[in-house]
Amino acid sequence: MKVLVVGAGGREDALAWKLKQSKKVSCVFTAPGNPGTAKHGTNVPIKADDLEGLLAFALKEKIDLTVIGPELPLTLGIVDLFEAKGLKVFGPSKLGAELERSKVFSKKLMIDYNIPTAKYYEFTTAEKALNHIRNLDKNNLPIVIKADGLAAGKGVFICQSLDDATEAIKIIMEKKEFGSAGDTIVIEDFLEGEEASFIAVTDGNTVTPFASSQDHKPVFDTDQGPNTGGMGAYSPAPVVTPELSKEIMEKIMIPAVRAMDSEGRPFKGVLYAGLMIKNGKAKVLEFNCRFGDPETQPLLMRLRTDIVDIMLASIDGTLDKITLEWDKRTALCVVMASEGYPSDYTKGVLISGLEIAEQEGSGEVVVFHAGTTEQYGKILTSGGRVLGVTALGSDIASAIKKAYASTEKIKFKGAHYRADIGQKAVSR
Ligand SMILES: Nc1ncnc2c1ncn2[C@@H]1O[C@H](COP(=O)(O)OP(=O)(O)O)[C@@H](O)[C@H]1O
Ligand SMILES: [Mg+2]
Repeated sequence: MKVLVVGAGGREDALAWKLKQSKKVSCVFTAPGNPGTAKHGTNVPIKADDLEGLLAFALKEKIDLTVIGPELPLTLGIVDLFEAKGLKVFGPSKLGAELERSKVFSKKLMIDYNIPTAKYYEFTTAEKALNHIRNLDKNNLPIVIKADGLAAGKGVFICQSLDDATEAIKIIMEKKEFGSAGDTIVIEDFLEGEEASFIAVTDGNTVTPFASSQDHKPVFDTDQGPNTGGMGAYSPAPVVTPELSKEIMEKIMIPAVRAMDSEGRPFKGVLYAGLMIKNGKAKVLEFNCRFGDPETQPLLMRLRTDIVDIMLASIDGTLDKITLEWDKRTALCVVMASEGYPSDYTKGVLISGLEIAEQEGSGEVVVFHAGTTEQYGKILTSGGRVLGVTALGSDIASAIKKAYASTEKIKFKGAHYRADIGQKAVSR
Protein backbone atom coordinates (compact mmCIF):
# COMPACT_ATOMS: atom_id res chain seq x y z
CA MET A 1 0.00 0.00 0.00
CA LYS A 2 1.01 3.59 -0.62
CA VAL A 3 0.35 5.79 2.39
CA LEU A 4 0.25 9.59 2.72
CA VAL A 5 0.65 11.29 6.11
CA VAL A 6 -0.48 14.91 6.27
CA GLY A 7 1.36 17.22 8.68
CA ALA A 8 4.86 18.23 9.76
CA GLY A 9 5.26 17.73 13.50
CA GLY A 10 6.48 15.15 15.99
CA ARG A 11 3.12 13.36 15.86
CA GLU A 12 3.44 12.96 12.09
CA ASP A 13 7.03 11.69 12.41
CA ALA A 14 5.75 9.03 14.84
CA LEU A 15 2.84 8.14 12.52
CA ALA A 16 5.12 7.81 9.48
CA TRP A 17 7.60 5.75 11.56
CA LYS A 18 4.85 3.38 12.69
CA LEU A 19 3.13 3.11 9.29
CA LYS A 20 6.45 2.24 7.66
CA GLN A 21 6.71 -0.80 9.98
CA SER A 22 3.48 -2.31 8.63
CA LYS A 23 4.02 -5.29 6.30
CA LYS A 24 1.18 -3.92 4.18
CA VAL A 25 2.94 -0.62 3.49
CA SER A 26 5.33 -0.29 0.56
CA CYS A 27 5.96 3.46 0.77
CA VAL A 28 5.15 6.41 2.99
CA PHE A 29 4.82 9.99 1.75
CA THR A 30 4.55 12.87 4.22
CA ALA A 31 3.22 16.30 3.24
CA PRO A 32 4.99 18.53 4.01
CA GLY A 33 6.88 16.42 6.59
CA ASN A 34 10.23 17.19 8.26
CA PRO A 35 13.75 15.66 8.31
CA GLY A 36 12.43 12.93 10.62
CA THR A 37 9.63 11.81 8.30
CA ALA A 38 12.12 11.89 5.39
CA LYS A 39 13.85 8.92 7.04
CA HIS A 40 10.71 6.78 6.67
CA GLY A 41 9.88 7.70 3.09
CA THR A 42 9.48 10.74 0.86
CA ASN A 43 8.52 14.27 1.84
CA VAL A 44 6.19 16.10 -0.53
CA PRO A 45 6.23 19.92 -0.45
CA ILE A 46 2.48 20.44 -0.04
CA LYS A 47 1.17 22.26 3.03
CA ALA A 48 -1.29 20.49 5.36
CA ASP A 49 -4.05 23.03 4.60
CA ASP A 50 -3.63 22.90 0.80
CA LEU A 51 -6.54 20.51 0.36
CA GLU A 52 -6.68 20.67 -3.45
CA GLY A 53 -2.92 20.15 -3.70
CA LEU A 54 -3.08 17.11 -1.40
CA LEU A 55 -6.02 15.67 -3.32
CA ALA A 56 -4.27 16.08 -6.68
CA PHE A 57 -1.17 14.33 -5.27
CA ALA A 58 -3.17 11.45 -3.76
CA LEU A 59 -5.03 10.88 -7.05
CA LYS A 60 -1.87 11.06 -9.16
CA GLU A 61 0.10 8.69 -6.89
CA LYS A 62 -2.90 6.39 -6.32
CA ILE A 63 -2.50 6.66 -2.55
CA ASP A 64 -4.27 3.76 -0.78
CA LEU A 65 -4.54 5.38 2.65
CA THR A 66 -4.21 9.00 3.79
CA VAL A 67 -3.68 9.76 7.47
CA ILE A 68 -4.43 13.28 8.70
CA GLY A 69 -2.25 14.47 11.62
CA PRO A 70 -3.39 18.01 12.56
CA GLU A 71 -6.88 19.39 13.17
CA LEU A 72 -6.85 22.18 10.59
CA PRO A 73 -7.28 20.08 7.41
CA LEU A 74 -9.93 17.99 9.20
CA THR A 75 -11.95 21.08 10.10
CA LEU A 76 -11.56 22.31 6.51
CA GLY A 77 -13.17 19.09 5.25
CA ILE A 78 -10.26 17.08 3.82
CA VAL A 79 -11.96 13.78 4.64
CA ASP A 80 -15.14 14.76 2.77
CA LEU A 81 -13.07 15.90 -0.23
CA PHE A 82 -11.01 12.68 -0.40
CA GLU A 83 -14.01 10.40 0.17
CA ALA A 84 -15.94 12.08 -2.64
CA LYS A 85 -13.13 10.90 -4.97
CA GLY A 86 -13.24 7.37 -3.58
CA LEU A 87 -10.00 7.71 -1.59
CA LYS A 88 -9.53 6.07 1.82
CA VAL A 89 -8.71 8.62 4.50
CA PHE A 90 -8.40 8.26 8.27
CA GLY A 91 -10.14 10.94 10.33
CA PRO A 92 -13.55 12.55 10.90
CA SER A 93 -15.59 14.52 8.37
CA LYS A 94 -15.92 18.29 8.55
CA LEU A 95 -19.17 17.89 10.50
CA GLY A 96 -17.40 15.54 12.91
CA ALA A 97 -14.36 17.77 13.36
CA GLU A 98 -16.66 20.53 14.63
CA LEU A 99 -16.26 18.78 17.99
CA GLU A 100 -12.73 20.18 18.21
CA ARG A 101 -13.10 23.30 16.04
CA SER A 102 -15.76 24.90 18.22
CA LYS A 103 -15.57 24.98 22.02
CA VAL A 104 -19.17 26.26 22.08
CA PHE A 105 -20.37 23.32 19.99
CA SER A 106 -18.58 20.76 22.17
CA LYS A 107 -19.67 22.34 25.47
CA LYS A 108 -23.30 22.39 24.32
CA LEU A 109 -23.07 18.78 23.16
CA MET A 110 -21.63 17.70 26.53
CA ILE A 111 -24.33 19.48 28.51
CA ASP A 112 -27.14 18.21 26.21
CA TYR A 113 -25.94 14.60 26.50
CA ASN A 114 -24.91 14.60 30.16
CA ILE A 115 -21.18 14.21 29.58
CA PRO A 116 -19.32 15.48 32.68
CA THR A 117 -17.69 18.88 32.08
CA ALA A 118 -17.32 22.28 33.80
CA LYS A 119 -20.33 24.62 33.87
CA TYR A 120 -20.08 27.29 31.18
CA TYR A 121 -21.53 30.45 29.67
CA GLU A 122 -21.28 31.51 26.06
CA PHE A 123 -20.94 35.13 24.85
CA THR A 124 -20.99 36.66 21.38
CA THR A 125 -20.18 40.24 22.42
CA ALA A 126 -17.41 41.63 24.63
CA GLU A 127 -19.96 43.88 26.34
CA LYS A 128 -22.05 40.96 27.60
CA ALA A 129 -18.98 38.97 28.62
CA LEU A 130 -17.53 41.94 30.55
CA ASN A 131 -20.87 42.46 32.22
CA HIS A 132 -20.88 38.82 33.33
CA ILE A 133 -17.39 39.26 34.82
CA ARG A 134 -18.41 42.44 36.67
CA ASN A 135 -21.20 40.54 38.41
CA LEU A 136 -19.04 37.55 39.23
CA ASP A 137 -18.53 36.54 42.84
CA LYS A 138 -14.80 36.53 43.73
CA ASN A 139 -15.33 33.04 45.17
CA ASN A 140 -15.75 31.82 41.59
CA LEU A 141 -12.10 32.59 40.84
CA PRO A 142 -10.07 31.36 39.09
CA ILE A 143 -12.22 31.33 35.98
CA VAL A 144 -11.38 29.97 32.52
CA ILE A 145 -11.95 31.97 29.33
CA LYS A 146 -11.68 30.28 25.94
CA ALA A 147 -11.86 31.54 22.37
CA ASP A 148 -14.46 29.42 20.56
CA GLY A 149 -12.35 28.59 17.51
CA LEU A 150 -8.92 27.11 16.78
CA ALA A 151 -6.13 29.20 18.29
CA ALA A 152 -3.13 26.87 18.13
CA GLY A 153 -3.32 26.16 21.86
CA LYS A 154 -3.11 29.87 22.77
CA GLY A 155 -6.80 30.72 23.08
CA VAL A 156 -7.34 29.59 26.69
CA PHE A 157 -6.84 31.93 29.66
CA ILE A 158 -6.87 30.82 33.30
CA CYS A 159 -7.81 34.04 35.09
CA GLN A 160 -6.88 34.47 38.75
CA SER A 161 -8.54 37.87 39.12
CA LEU A 162 -11.42 39.85 37.63
CA ASP A 163 -8.81 42.13 36.01
CA ASP A 164 -7.18 39.13 34.32
CA ALA A 165 -10.59 38.04 33.06
CA THR A 166 -11.35 41.53 31.69
CA GLU A 167 -7.97 41.55 29.96
CA ALA A 168 -8.57 38.08 28.44
CA ILE A 169 -11.95 39.12 27.04
CA LYS A 170 -10.37 42.22 25.49
CA ILE A 171 -7.52 40.21 23.93
CA ILE A 172 -9.91 37.70 22.39
CA MET A 173 -12.95 39.81 21.49
CA GLU A 174 -11.68 43.37 21.01
CA LYS A 175 -8.05 43.07 19.91
CA LYS A 176 -9.07 39.93 17.96
CA GLU A 177 -5.71 38.25 18.56
CA PHE A 178 -7.12 34.98 17.27
CA GLY A 179 -9.16 36.54 14.46
CA SER A 180 -12.66 35.19 13.96
CA ALA A 181 -11.86 32.30 16.37
CA GLY A 182 -12.60 34.92 19.05
CA ASP A 183 -16.02 36.04 17.74
CA THR A 184 -17.55 33.90 20.47
CA ILE A 185 -16.10 32.93 23.85
CA VAL A 186 -16.78 30.37 26.52
CA ILE A 187 -16.41 31.31 30.18
CA GLU A 188 -16.24 28.17 32.29
CA ASP A 189 -15.58 27.08 35.86
CA PHE A 190 -12.02 26.20 36.79
CA LEU A 191 -11.53 22.50 37.48
CA GLU A 192 -8.90 21.30 39.92
CA GLY A 193 -7.11 18.00 39.64
CA GLU A 194 -4.62 16.14 37.48
CA GLU A 195 -4.86 16.24 33.69
CA ALA A 196 -4.75 13.17 31.49
CA SER A 197 -5.31 12.46 27.82
CA PHE A 198 -7.77 9.74 26.84
CA ILE A 199 -7.40 8.69 23.23
CA ALA A 200 -9.72 6.27 21.46
CA VAL A 201 -10.31 5.18 17.89
CA THR A 202 -13.82 4.77 16.51
CA ASP A 203 -15.60 3.77 13.32
CA GLY A 204 -18.71 5.67 14.43
CA ASN A 205 -20.09 2.64 16.21
CA THR A 206 -17.39 0.68 18.05
CA VAL A 207 -15.17 2.79 20.32
CA THR A 208 -11.78 1.26 21.19
CA PRO A 209 -9.58 2.91 23.81
CA PHE A 210 -5.85 3.39 23.34
CA ALA A 211 -3.48 2.88 26.26
CA SER A 212 -3.57 5.72 28.80
CA SER A 213 -1.22 8.67 28.51
CA GLN A 214 -0.38 11.98 30.13
CA ASP A 215 0.89 15.21 28.56
CA HIS A 216 2.79 18.04 30.34
CA LYS A 217 1.34 21.37 29.15
CA PRO A 218 3.15 24.09 31.15
CA VAL A 219 6.62 25.03 29.96
CA PHE A 220 8.50 24.68 33.28
CA ASP A 221 9.01 21.92 35.85
CA THR A 222 6.25 21.25 38.42
CA ASP A 223 3.72 22.72 35.95
CA GLN A 224 4.94 26.30 36.24
CA GLY A 225 4.82 28.95 33.52
CA PRO A 226 2.63 29.41 30.46
CA ASN A 227 0.98 26.53 28.58
CA THR A 228 2.65 25.06 25.51
CA GLY A 229 1.61 22.54 22.87
CA GLY A 230 3.02 19.89 25.26
CA MET A 231 6.51 19.46 26.74
CA GLY A 232 6.49 15.69 27.14
CA ALA A 233 4.26 12.66 27.60
CA TYR A 234 4.31 9.08 28.77
CA SER A 235 2.21 5.93 28.62
CA PRO A 236 0.73 4.20 30.56
CA ALA A 237 -0.46 6.91 32.98
CA PRO A 238 -1.28 5.37 36.38
CA VAL A 239 -3.70 8.23 37.20
CA VAL A 240 -6.05 6.47 34.75
CA THR A 241 -6.72 3.27 36.68
CA PRO A 242 -8.50 0.37 34.91
CA GLU A 243 -11.72 1.26 36.81
CA LEU A 244 -11.47 4.92 35.79
CA SER A 245 -10.73 3.92 32.21
CA LYS A 246 -13.93 1.84 32.15
CA GLU A 247 -15.91 4.74 33.56
CA ILE A 248 -14.41 7.20 31.04
CA MET A 249 -15.47 4.87 28.24
CA GLU A 250 -19.02 4.52 29.61
CA LYS A 251 -19.64 8.11 30.69
CA ILE A 252 -17.59 10.08 28.16
CA MET A 253 -16.19 8.36 25.07
CA ILE A 254 -19.11 6.14 24.01
CA PRO A 255 -21.75 8.81 24.85
CA ALA A 256 -19.79 11.39 22.81
CA VAL A 257 -19.70 9.13 19.73
CA ARG A 258 -23.42 8.31 20.15
CA ALA A 259 -24.22 12.01 20.65
CA MET A 260 -22.42 12.98 17.44
CA ASP A 261 -24.39 10.31 15.62
CA SER A 262 -27.69 11.61 17.03
CA GLU A 263 -26.74 15.10 15.86
CA GLY A 264 -26.30 13.84 12.28
CA ARG A 265 -22.52 14.03 12.57
CA PRO A 266 -21.29 10.43 12.51
CA PHE A 267 -17.77 10.51 13.94
CA LYS A 268 -14.89 8.26 12.92
CA GLY A 269 -11.14 8.47 13.43
CA VAL A 270 -9.46 9.45 16.68
CA LEU A 271 -11.48 10.88 19.54
CA TYR A 272 -9.21 12.43 22.15
CA ALA A 273 -10.65 13.76 25.40
CA GLY A 274 -8.57 16.17 27.47
CA LEU A 275 -9.59 15.28 31.02
CA MET A 276 -9.27 16.70 34.52
CA ILE A 277 -9.23 13.95 37.14
CA LYS A 278 -10.06 14.49 40.79
CA ASN A 279 -10.93 11.91 43.45
CA GLY A 280 -11.10 9.18 40.81
CA LYS A 281 -13.66 11.07 38.65
CA ALA A 282 -13.00 12.57 35.22
CA LYS A 283 -14.47 15.69 33.64
CA VAL A 284 -13.87 16.79 30.06
CA LEU A 285 -11.81 19.94 29.40
CA GLU A 286 -12.14 19.59 25.65
CA PHE A 287 -12.43 17.10 22.81
CA ASN A 288 -9.92 16.82 20.00
CA CYS A 289 -10.57 15.00 16.75
CA ARG A 290 -7.04 13.71 16.05
CA PHE A 291 -4.01 12.17 17.75
CA GLY A 292 -2.35 14.18 20.53
CA ASP A 293 1.12 15.63 20.15
CA PRO A 294 3.29 14.54 22.00
CA GLU A 295 1.15 11.64 23.40
CA THR A 296 1.28 9.88 20.02
CA GLN A 297 5.06 9.46 20.25
CA PRO A 298 5.03 7.24 23.39
CA LEU A 299 1.73 5.58 22.43
CA LEU A 300 3.01 4.41 19.05
CA MET A 301 6.27 3.20 20.62
CA ARG A 302 4.06 0.83 22.66
CA LEU A 303 1.49 -0.14 20.03
CA ARG A 304 1.96 -3.75 18.89
CA THR A 305 -1.05 -4.02 16.54
CA ASP A 306 -0.57 -3.06 12.89
CA ILE A 307 -1.70 0.57 12.75
CA VAL A 308 -2.87 0.13 9.14
CA ASP A 309 -5.38 -2.51 10.27
CA ILE A 310 -6.71 -0.14 12.94
CA MET A 311 -7.09 2.77 10.53
CA LEU A 312 -8.71 0.69 7.77
CA ALA A 313 -11.14 -0.79 10.32
CA SER A 314 -12.10 2.72 11.43
CA ILE A 315 -12.74 3.73 7.82
CA ASP A 316 -14.58 0.52 6.87
CA GLY A 317 -16.70 0.19 10.03
CA THR A 318 -15.09 -3.08 11.18
CA LEU A 319 -13.39 -1.93 14.36
CA ASP A 320 -15.27 -4.59 16.37
CA LYS A 321 -12.94 -7.15 14.72
CA ILE A 322 -9.74 -5.50 16.00
CA THR A 323 -8.02 -5.96 19.37
CA LEU A 324 -5.29 -3.52 20.32
CA GLU A 325 -2.14 -4.94 21.84
CA TRP A 326 0.37 -2.92 23.82
CA ASP A 327 3.98 -3.38 24.81
CA LYS A 328 3.98 -3.86 28.61
CA ARG A 329 6.86 -1.44 28.95
CA THR A 330 6.52 2.29 29.65
CA ALA A 331 7.29 4.82 26.92
CA LEU A 332 8.26 8.40 27.69
CA CYS A 333 8.87 11.40 25.44
CA VAL A 334 10.90 14.49 26.42
CA VAL A 335 10.27 17.50 24.18
CA MET A 336 13.26 19.74 23.48
CA ALA A 337 12.19 23.29 22.67
CA SER A 338 13.76 26.42 21.17
CA GLU A 339 14.98 29.36 23.24
CA GLY A 340 12.01 31.61 24.05
CA TYR A 341 9.26 29.03 23.34
CA PRO A 342 6.25 29.26 23.91
CA SER A 343 6.71 32.99 23.21
CA ASP A 344 8.74 34.20 20.21
CA TYR A 345 11.61 31.82 19.70
CA THR A 346 14.87 31.63 17.78
CA LYS A 347 15.15 29.52 14.59
CA GLY A 348 17.92 28.24 12.34
CA VAL A 349 20.11 26.96 15.19
CA LEU A 350 22.40 24.00 14.44
CA ILE A 351 21.51 20.74 16.23
CA SER A 352 24.20 18.18 17.10
CA GLY A 353 24.22 14.77 18.76
CA LEU A 354 21.10 13.29 17.10
CA GLU A 355 22.74 10.01 16.10
CA ILE A 356 24.63 9.60 19.37
CA ALA A 357 21.34 10.11 21.22
CA GLU A 358 19.69 7.18 19.42
CA GLN A 359 22.81 5.00 19.79
CA GLU A 360 22.80 5.75 23.52
CA GLY A 361 19.30 4.20 23.67
CA SER A 362 20.46 0.95 21.99
CA GLY A 363 17.26 0.41 20.00
CA GLU A 364 14.90 1.60 22.73
CA VAL A 365 15.12 5.32 21.94
CA VAL A 366 13.71 7.15 18.93
CA VAL A 367 14.30 10.87 18.42
CA PHE A 368 11.19 12.14 16.63
CA HIS A 369 11.56 15.40 14.73
CA ALA A 370 9.06 18.24 15.12
CA GLY A 371 10.43 21.74 14.37
CA THR A 372 13.56 20.89 12.38
CA THR A 373 14.78 21.55 8.85
CA GLU A 374 17.70 20.26 6.80
CA GLN A 375 20.18 22.54 5.07
CA TYR A 376 23.27 21.26 3.22
CA GLY A 377 23.13 18.00 5.19
CA LYS A 378 22.86 19.72 8.57
CA ILE A 379 19.80 19.68 10.84
CA LEU A 380 18.68 23.10 12.12
CA THR A 381 15.83 24.19 14.39
CA SER A 382 12.76 25.63 12.63
CA GLY A 383 9.96 25.53 15.20
CA GLY A 384 9.16 26.00 18.88
CA ARG A 385 9.01 22.33 19.75
CA VAL A 386 12.06 20.87 18.04
CA LEU A 387 12.47 17.19 18.98
CA GLY A 388 10.72 14.47 21.00
CA VAL A 389 13.23 12.10 22.54
CA THR A 390 11.19 8.95 23.20
CA ALA A 391 12.35 5.90 25.17
CA LEU A 392 10.96 2.53 26.18
CA GLY A 393 11.83 1.27 29.67
CA SER A 394 10.78 -1.67 31.82
CA ASP A 395 9.03 0.79 34.15
CA ILE A 396 8.57 4.55 34.48
CA ALA A 397 11.89 5.05 36.28
CA SER A 398 13.83 3.25 33.59
CA ALA A 399 11.98 5.07 30.77
CA ILE A 400 12.82 8.40 32.44
CA LYS A 401 16.47 7.43 32.83
CA LYS A 402 16.82 6.37 29.20
CA ALA A 403 14.94 9.31 27.71
CA TYR A 404 17.02 11.83 29.66
CA ALA A 405 20.34 10.06 29.00
CA SER A 406 19.64 10.46 25.27
CA THR A 407 18.25 13.99 25.60
CA GLU A 408 21.49 15.09 27.24
CA LYS A 409 23.45 13.98 24.16
CA ILE A 410 21.58 16.44 21.93
CA LYS A 411 22.80 20.02 21.85
CA PHE A 412 21.55 23.25 20.31
CA LYS A 413 21.99 26.79 21.57
CA GLY A 414 19.14 27.87 23.86
CA ALA A 415 17.62 24.38 24.01
CA HIS A 416 15.31 23.82 26.97
CA TYR A 417 13.24 20.92 28.23
CA ARG A 418 11.42 19.95 31.40
CA ALA A 419 13.44 17.80 33.79
CA ASP A 420 10.38 16.24 35.43
CA ILE A 421 8.52 14.41 32.66
CA GLY A 422 6.92 11.32 34.23
CA GLN A 423 7.43 12.41 37.85
CA LYS A 424 3.68 12.36 38.54
CA ALA A 425 3.70 8.64 37.70
CA VAL A 426 6.73 8.10 39.94
CA SER A 427 4.98 9.77 42.89
CA ARG A 428 2.11 7.35 42.51
N1 LIG B 1 -12.08 24.30 33.04
C1 LIG B 1 -10.77 24.23 33.20
N2 LIG B 1 -10.23 24.14 34.44
C2 LIG B 1 -8.89 24.08 34.63
N3 LIG B 1 -8.00 24.13 33.64
C3 LIG B 1 -8.46 24.20 32.37
C4 LIG B 1 -9.86 24.26 32.09
N4 LIG B 1 -10.01 24.32 30.74
C5 LIG B 1 -8.77 24.32 30.22
N5 LIG B 1 -7.82 24.27 31.18
C6 LIG B 1 -6.36 24.24 30.98
O1 LIG B 1 -6.05 24.89 29.76
C7 LIG B 1 -5.47 23.97 28.83
C8 LIG B 1 -5.98 24.25 27.43
O2 LIG B 1 -7.38 24.15 27.40
P1 LIG B 1 -8.13 23.29 26.31
O3 LIG B 1 -9.59 23.38 26.55
O4 LIG B 1 -7.52 21.94 26.26
O5 LIG B 1 -7.86 24.12 24.96
P2 LIG B 1 -6.80 24.01 23.79
O6 LIG B 1 -6.07 22.72 23.89
O7 LIG B 1 -7.64 24.13 22.58
O8 LIG B 1 -5.90 25.20 23.99
C9 LIG B 1 -5.84 22.60 29.36
O9 LIG B 1 -4.89 21.63 28.95
C10 LIG B 1 -5.84 22.83 30.86
O10 LIG B 1 -4.52 22.83 31.37
MG1 LIG C 1 -6.11 21.01 24.91
